[in-house]
Amino acid sequence: MNKVDVLLGLQWGDEGKGKIVDVLSKKYDIIARFQGGPNAGHTLEFDGIKHVLHTIPSGIFNTEIINLIGNGVVIDPIIFRKEINSIKKLNIETSELQISKKAHLILPTHKMLDKASEIAKGKNKIGSTLKGIGPTYMDKTGRNGLRVGDINSKNFEKKYNKLKEKHITLLNFYSFEEAIEELENEWFESIETIRKFKLIDSEEFLHNQLLDNRSILAEGAQGSLLDIDFGSYPYVTSSNTIAAGACTGLGVAPNKIGEVFGIFKAYCTRVGSGPFPTELFDDIGKEIQKVGNEFGATTGRSRRCGWLDIPALKYAIKINGVTQLMMMKADVLSMLEKIRICTHYIHNDIKLDYIPYDISDGDFTCIYKDIPSWQKDLTQLINYENSPFELKEYVNLLEQMLELPIKIVSVGPDREQTLFR
Ligand code: GDP
Ligand code: IMO
Ligand code: MG
Repeated sequence: MNKVDVLLGLQWGDEGKGKIVDVLSKKYDIIARFQGGPNAGHTLEFDGIKHVLHTIPSGIFNTEIINLIGNGVVIDPIIFRKEINSIKKLNIETSELQISKKAHLILPTHKMLDKASEIAKGKNKIGSTLKGIGPTYMDKTGRNGLRVGDINSKNFEKKYNKLKEKHITLLNFYSFEEAIEELENEWFESIETIRKFKLIDSEEFLHNQLLDNRSILAEGAQGSLLDIDFGSYPYVTSSNTIAAGACTGLGVAPNKIGEVFGIFKAYCTRVGSGPFPTELFDDIGKEIQKVGNEFGATTGRSRRCGWLDIPALKYAIKINGVTQLMMMKADVLSMLEKIRICTHYIHNDIKLDYIPYDISDGDFTCIYKDIPSWQKDLTQLINYENSPFELKEYVNLLEQMLELPIKIVSVGPDREQTLFR
């Protein structure tokens, strides 16, 4: 029996998961998204085309395989329909996309509640993408949610209205008002698009596929440091972004998980509020943002930039049981003379090599090691062997510190700009 491999982000999201899932998709029979929703923006580039996916798995451009949206995902039908239409424009066949009946639906009023909640938080706002993620997962755990399988129930509209009414009561509490009719019409039209796909009991499907020795890659969204339990709470998303989320988000048992691919940038970024120990507030930070094109794929907001954070990476590696690493965006650091990495923290005079609970309290300092950069263009490289000595030294040092092999070094956004080791 085969096992499910998992690919997930080890930082605050946007590590480059979309690119690598697309690259690896030719080795798999099925790509399955396991959590999150349209808060995600996964970018792929090939043949001069750049594509951003929000809900649909990043294997969709490989028409030989099956792509699956798992039960752990929350779906906004309107965004889903837009994604399907833009893929179809490229003449890509999407009929092999399957959707779990147990995935929850994002209602227009979930998005309004997200906005109302953020406004009420004032300067303590999470910096949510406002896609309705928090309110939808709240309805899921509160046992009020509307699921994809409900679409085919004769009571679907009744169930929708019941949930909408509950939301309107809450919105009144927030004194939040916004026109809903237009959005609601679009929402119901988009439900018709979802209805055309295979809506399945996906846990059963995946289990049978494993018995048939088919290979499955689970695609994570967001990053480990945005995990609802282990991220920098409350500045997190509302799902388990870690490897365990692949078990609950697909119905796969822990002993059926195979490789766990942990993906990280050669530096760090974060979009939205919350602690970011190695954040740069100087010109170097701005330069990384510019050269790395660090602007959110979903919201267009600028991403905060900083140095690579080893304690945070070690923490994420532990929680996920990572078996192999992939380092992204090495090309972005070529313009620097010197690179820094944070080796540990000093928190209230105590040396730490993990992220403490009370990271925002008391004295907190990052201790850095300086490393010379490669100062050479990497974007034309076609094999790792020919890469500059300094890059190899950087990779070797990280492998030593993280005690795991770095199997891929990415040197540009395109599929082809991927060096295997
Ligand atoms: P995801 O959410 O993890 O899929 O990542 P995003 O798509 O949000 O952000 C990653 C961004 O970096 C996208 O614009 C990618 O096209 C781009 N990217 C991915 N890998 C590389 C790389 O190695 N070098 C450069 N310069 N850009 C990359
Ligand atoms: P991908 O999959 C980066 C951040 C938001 C905010 C917090 C909560 O592209 O890596 P939410 O909308 O979930 O309520 O926002 O999480 N966030 C992301 N940051 N990449 C993402 O996804 C993100 N999805 C959510 O900016 O700080
Ligand atoms: Mg992204």
